Amino acid sequence: MAFSVGYSDLDCLLSSNSTKTKTKTIKNMHNETFCIQQIPVDPLTGSISTPIYATSTFVQDAPGVNRGYDYSRTNNPTRKVLEDLMSQLEGGAQSSAFASGLAAIDAVIKLLSVGDEVIAVNDIYGGAYRLFTHVYTKLGINFKYVDTADLSTIAQAINSKTKLIWLESPTNPTLKISDIQAISNVIKDKNILLCVDNTFASPIAQKPIELGADLVIHSATKYLGGHSDLIAGIVVSNTKELGEKIHFNQNASGGILGPFESWLVIRGIETLPLRIQQHSNTAQQIAEYLSQHPLVKNVYYPGLKQHKNHEIAQKQMRLFGGIISFDLVNDQARQALQIVQSTKLFKLAESLGGAKSLLCLPSEMTHKSIPRETRYQSGITDSLIRLSVGLEHPEDLIADLASAFHFNNKK
Ligand SMILES: Cc1ncc(COP(=O)(O)O)c(C=O)c1O
Repeated sequence: MAFSVGYSDLDCLLSSNSTKTKTKTIKNMHNETFCIQQIPVDPLTGSISTPIYATSTFVQDAPGVNRGYDYSRTNNPTRKVLEDLMSQLEGGAQSSAFASGLAAIDAVIKLLSVGDEVIAVNDIYGGAYRLFTHVYTKLGINFKYVDTADLSTIAQAINSKTKLIWLESPTNPTLKISDIQAISNVIKDKNILLCVDNTFASPIAQKPIELGADLVIHSATKYLGGHSDLIAGIVVSNTKELGEKIHFNQNASGGILGPFESWLVIRGIETLPLRIQQHSNTAQQIAEYLSQHPLVKNVYYPGLKQHKNHEIAQKQMRLFGGIISFDLVNDQARQALQIVQSTKLFKLAESLGGAKSLLCLPSEMTHKSIPRETRYQSGITDSLIRLSVGLEHPEDLIADLASAFHFNNKK
């Protein structure tokens, strides 16, 4: 599946002359080509793999005269390759790569001032909830959690203090879909920023900036890295001005991504389109299997026709991704605990987006910091299980789930 990713900027990214000439002839590249060819060949040596600039500082030609870099907290050539790549992939103007997804979220919230209000999706990732509630509330920023899938709820929640709308779409872990374009229309001309956590979709499946978002954040720990071997975060801004503010916050606070992790994420992006395609194909099959299973009550997957906002997902997503959540008919935490401890291929672990399949029980793990009542309001029941569908064969993964269900049904 091909779609526009801002190819016009490609030429200026590739600084090696020979590469430039070759790449110039390739028009309308598919994602698979784009994610590989957009990574520049090293202009100094021709190295096909981006060099890891493991350096804290850069020798200056004269005081204040440098070659574009002076200190690696401020900027680093390996990190810069990743940041430029992400700007291109998300269709933004500027990106900053952080030490974690939460550091990226933190840099966005630091755009705000005392008294400002944020309207956030109500089944927000637990770590973002913790940061907002336990750090920023006491610093004078207010957060309202609403069902952002409902446009009228957002419109009602907006007031003169609202400065930021915080969306995840799909959400973690109940895969709610919000209509990004419609929300951006609601806040048009209102001086309110729209930030989308695009971790679950990845830029291969969804491009929020094209839909009107001002900022996109990623936990690059997940699909961008893709191999469960790093922690990283990205902020992409739709304008240079906003990008500079984020960069200022990053340099001021220091939560940068190191050169080695930057390189790992760059390498991950080379296979991102292939992986997201495969994750999505397998997840669709597993979601369909789960929706027929007698022990299962609800299956949350945007690719299912019965998903509440399947049509909006179809409109704004190219693929539906690799995350599925489901809960049990009897909603017993004990049975859910047994299931998550019985699978062999799906490993019990937090995180998602890697080659290896993982599963978790959000009520006891990722979302433990959210009060039970609040959890239930957003559908995170005690028995809700989240699957991160990896790259193993779909039949093996379905057999693994089937045997965990079978074993625990007999007990
Ligand atoms: C949707 C989402 N956003 C942000 C984060 C935070 O990212 P990190 O763990 O890289 O700090 C996570 C982590 O699970 C997540 O799932």
